[in-house]
Amino acid sequence: MKSKHWTWVGWPLGALPLAWITMQAAGGQLGPDPAETLVELLGWWSLVMLLACLTMRPAAQLLKVPGLVIWRRTFGLWAFGYVCMHFLAWATLLLGWDPSFLGEELTKRPYIIIGMLAWLALWPLALTSTRQSRRRLGRKWVKLHRLIFPAVLLGVVHQSWVQKSGYGETLIFVSVLLILLLYRILHGRNMIRK
Ligand code: HEM
Repeated sequence: MKSKHWTWVGWPLGALPLAWITMQAAGGQLGPDPAETLVELLGWWSLVMLLACLTMRPAAQLLKVPGLVIWRRTFGLWAFGYVCMHFLAWATLLLGWDPSFLGEELTKRPYIIIGMLAWLALWPLALTSTRQSRRRLGRKWVKLHRLIFPAVLLGVVHQSWVQKSGYGETLIFVSVLLILLLYRILHGRNMIRK
């Protein structure tokens, strides 16, 4: 399949969790505290999309399907989209945009600060995700896009801090991240290039 076609398959794939979350919410199936569950689910999928983004190059190499590399951008942008919705759901549904709550949470809760830092790290990546930016920035683009690593690391730390169901999921996230980092170390420095 041509890479152009692969790109388009990635977009609906990334949208599937959102469609599922929306259906659960519409059907009143988000449990006793729907707002909290919604924030949790959007956060969870942010992290999964970030890890999916990092998985694409190794997957393309190991499965010998070069077209998969295209999905790094797709899943990276989906990750950014899910984090934005995660933040908006948190600020709207849990804090009601109350400035005093917001101020307190953003300054006094380390896990929120870590989440914010992870989110901030993703902004320059999303804003320079176009082909034109990539061409314009050249080597700088490659360096800039290494911000994905601190972002995902902070995302995992944040998840381990806020989770309420034990460290099982954290262990899975950490293991996947370690495998991806190990692969990157073993397979040289060109992992982020096309
Ligand atoms: C890259 C950025 C982020 C990632 C990957 C991320 C990921 C996650 C994950 C996976 C969870 C679910 C934890 C669990 O129950 O297992 C979560 C929960 C949470 N996140 Fe984030 N998050 C990010 C940014 C943020 C930001 C910017 C905020 C707010 C400023 C935030 C606030 C929260 C809160 C309050 C919860 C707990 C929800 C609840 O159960 O009450 N996160 N996040």
